[in-house]
Amino acid sequence: AKTSLWGGRFSGGPADALAALSKSTHFDWRLAPYDLAGSRAHARVLHGAGLLDEEALGAMLRALDQLDDDVRSGAFLPAEDDEDVHTALERGLIERAGADVGGRLRAGRSRNDQIATLLRMYLRDHARACSLLLLDVVDALAAQARTHLGVAMPGRTHLQHAQPVLLSHHLLAHAWALLRDVDRWRDWDARTDESPYGSGALAGSSLGLDPESVARELGFATATDNSIDGTAARDFVAEFAFVAAMGAVDVSRLSEEVILWATKEFSFVTLDDAFSTGSSIMPQKKNPDVAELARGKAGRLVGDLAGLMTTLKALPLAYNRDLQEDKEPVFDAVDTLEVLLPAVAGMVGTLTFHPDRLESLAPQGFSLATDIAEWLVREGVPFRVAHEVAGACVRVCEERGIELWDLTDDDLAAISPHLTPGVREVLSVPGSLASRSAKGGTAPDRVVEQLDRAVERAGEL
Ligand code: ARG
Repeated sequence: AKTSLWGGRFSGGPADALAALSKSTHFDWRLAPYDLAGSRAHARVLHGAGLLDEEALGAMLRALDQLDDDVRSGAFLPAEDDEDVHTALERGLIERAGADVGGRLRAGRSRNDQIATLLRMYLRDHARACSLLLLDVVDALAAQARTHLGVAMPGRTHLQHAQPVLLSHHLLAHAWALLRDVDRWRDWDARTDESPYGSGALAGSSLGLDPESVARELGFATATDNSIDGTAARDFVAEFAFVAAMGAVDVSRLSEEVILWATKEFSFVTLDDAFSTGSSIMPQKKNPDVAELARGKAGRLVGDLAGLMTTLKALPLAYNRDLQEDKEPVFDAVDTLEVLLPAVAGMVGTLTFHPDRLESLAPQGFSLATDIAEWLVREGVPFRVAHEVAGACVRVCEERGIELWDLTDDDLAAISPHLTPGVREVLSVPGSLASRSAKGGTAPDRVVEQLDRAVERAGEL
């Protein structure tokens, strides 16, 4: 028969099939250091409440330290019969401190408030780690933006040539999205800065323990206001998974562009050998696997989020065992991002851009047509008419297979009397870029300011 934490009213241990179903040590063991930190704090509040004398506290803390060393070295591992991380560590404590001292620690706490606290601690550490990794991608984008200041490229909507923009402007658009993801983790952390320890199973503790002092010892600003909420809430897990998925989705949008840019047809970039792969059969191949895996793993993170939301939907208060299903998806999100982001940062940082190619395509596809229309507006022509006239220019060029700047003075005059030769000023990429000089625009001076602001923002986060 199996041993368990609830021997008293049971005549035997759980069936093997139940034990197998119930077991979570294969995924929750990573929480062991946090559980031990919680146990130390809990031992101290038991002592503070007069439930553990000085000598027992000393013995307990020494045993917990030993156990911590053994967990970290791998000398202590969960056994076949241990249900979860809490069960295993209680066994380890009793093995080291004896049943009399070790058996006192469980007073006034439940695995329900333990797990809710540990998961917050773990996720707060990893929100920080993932934020730093996202910031490495931002740094790589900012460095490329700085290296290529002044390089024009075709800006697209609907994937069609739209208007010329600066490459740096485009790269920074990705950086701003990632900065917001990091910012989301900051907001999340402020909301997650409350400890449920002391909530007990759901109703709070009767033993005169001080949840606030446990909270502070575990790095939280305060203890949760409601013990039912403290043990049942997992919105902090779902929200973490959302931020992780959003970050991955943002990275996937950048990655999709890298995949396109690296094609023969685009030829905007060459991938570094260290961040691309070859083919086992086609000797010429150089594949953008990092970007493709980023695209693929974004789907996986969205799945993790969907799984969590589905677990929480309609779940009554307070703790239900369904909540054990919160860990694998969110751990998968953490592990996936932590392996993905360094590769993405490396790929972005080592991309070789081809400025001549980017610049030569920037004005193509009649991407300066809007500049004609806006020039006419500055000349006092109503936009509706201006749009019509610029459209007529495009039609004539398309019929003759020429570009807008090939139209002669006579061609222009024949299209509209408003089109004096002065319009040529805006029929160049530098003229078009320079004219978009309001805040947020692609004019070179604005983009330099924007780059400095993005770098400053990254430094604040
Ligand atoms: N291992 C459980 C979890 O991850 C915590 C234990 C609570 N179990 C219980 N039967 N009350 O949620």
